[in-house]
Amino acid sequence: MTEYSIGVIGGDGIGPEVTAEAMKVVDAAADVFGFSVRRTEYPFGTDYYLDHGEIFPDDAFEEVKGLNAVYLGAIGDPRVTVGMIEYGIIARMRFDLDLYVNLRPIKLYDERLCPLKGKSPDDIDMAIVRENTEGAYAGMHGFCHKGQPLEVATQTMVYTREGVERAIRFAFNLARERNKKKQVTLIDKANAVRAQDIWTRTFAEVAAENPDIKTDHAYVDAACMWMIKNPEWFDVAVTPNLFGDIVTDLGAMLQGGMGIAASGNIHPGRVSLFEPIHGSAPKHAGKGIASPVAAILAGSMMLDYLGQKKAAAAIEQSIIDLLKSGRIKGVNTGDHGTSEVGDMVVAEVKSVAAQV
Ligand code: IPM
Ligand code: MG
Repeated sequence: MTEYSIGVIGGDGIGPEVTAEAMKVVDAAADVFGFSVRRTEYPFGTDYYLDHGEIFPDDAFEEVKGLNAVYLGAIGDPRVTVGMIEYGIIARMRFDLDLYVNLRPIKLYDERLCPLKGKSPDDIDMAIVRENTEGAYAGMHGFCHKGQPLEVATQTMVYTREGVERAIRFAFNLARERNKKKQVTLIDKANAVRAQDIWTRTFAEVAAENPDIKTDHAYVDAACMWMIKNPEWFDVAVTPNLFGDIVTDLGAMLQGGMGIAASGNIHPGRVSLFEPIHGSAPKHAGKGIASPVAAILAGSMMLDYLGQKKAAAAIEQSIIDLLKSGRIKGVNTGDHGTSEVGDMVVAEVKSVAAQV
């Protein structure tokens, strides 16, 4: 039987609660589809840092490199400096494992979850390929005369030819695999951020090598407008790191909010990281009322990445069935108990699997 080794970081706030449900569903799918998942649980997050003075010990980081995938619940806690734990865990994995694509599907599973008038699941089905290791996130920043009236703060957006090209190639391959509109939209701001000309040129070169895929372009401000006005225009979009961060929150709202949006931080062929897009929501932690749907869908993305396509599809279909039939009333905090939703998905995965 195929066995996968998975690292699991529940993290902060609601992270551990939603992760437990996601793992319950992954285990059920493994059972039904005949593979096994060996989990290594890591206790990292803010509590661990406050107790041990270390965020992500190096020996654990080395161990993670040998796994098939890592699953992360959520990170972030107001007790520590903004961004510190996020950088020590999420950003460290993105950068040091070279997870160069952040894949964020935006798919409307049920019409009633969409805040737009007159848009149906046929209209909202896109995937954003966010470049994940460069741009404004590359860490090249500094201050001088800090705290003085003359203070200067800079942060350099970094684009390498290789970094840009591999994200763009991933997007073209994805558009072909999805086999929907077979279209890739480049979202940039090359009219103002002139260094993004490297995106314009690289995109044109990769497009020329992929004549079966249509191309489109939108400046990021206009892309925000079109995603609301005509979301059906999008299939796959590729964009620099910071814009990807922003447009995927907007995209999450189109599909029903943070309670349903999932993502994969991917380096094809290597250990990759899967997580819901939402944060740790400390004020809801420990109450058992957070929606685990985004976390469960991140589990589905992980299984898809590992090659368990049927198991991944069965989980996704289960969520669709439960939403469409109204058994999952909504994906907002308090709509259901966290484990109640996990249990419903487990049962549905078993019945969906019996039908295929
Ligand atoms: C995301 C988050 C992160 C990001 C934060 C937590 C650093 O917003 O995954 O979208 O900006 O990438
Ligand atoms: Mg974000």
